[in-house]
Amino acid sequence: MSDVEARSRRSEMRGSEKKVRVTIPRSDLGAQNTFEVDRTDPMLLLDLLLAIQRRHDPSLAFRYSCRVAMCNMCGVHVDGGNVLACRVPLEAGRDEIRVEPMQGATVVRDLIVETDQFVDEWVQDVDRWSQ
Ligand code: FES
Repeated sequence: MSDVEARSRRSEMRGSEKKVRVTIPRSDLGAQNTFEVDRTDPMLLLDLLLAIQRRHDPSLAFRYSCRVAMCNMCGVHVDGGNVLACRVPLEAGRDEIRVEPMQGATVVRDLIVETDQFVDEWVQDVDRWSQ
């Protein structure tokens, strides 16, 4: 193994030891709402939510589908704005984050919000374009 490969491997190993503290308001007030998640580089916000659901609490509720910023199903509220979790990377060096449901919509459960309004608007847009 070359020096460059060895440095890269050590860097990867250090990276896997990093944690990010994630806080998510839960619909069930008794449910765990803070998680210490193993960090990967790169790591999208959606990766973080999936890691929580797979390794910490399978009851965490959130939506996603396409993973390529096309379906708008993975919207969440972070750092004062609504974002798509599948599009936003967790910044290097960040070790804490609060993820909330999208603002301006009714919460169904955890990070899932009512989407009928968005879907209705989308259908209307499609109808307009198809005429
Ligand atoms: S999963 Fe489709 S936009 Fe994020």
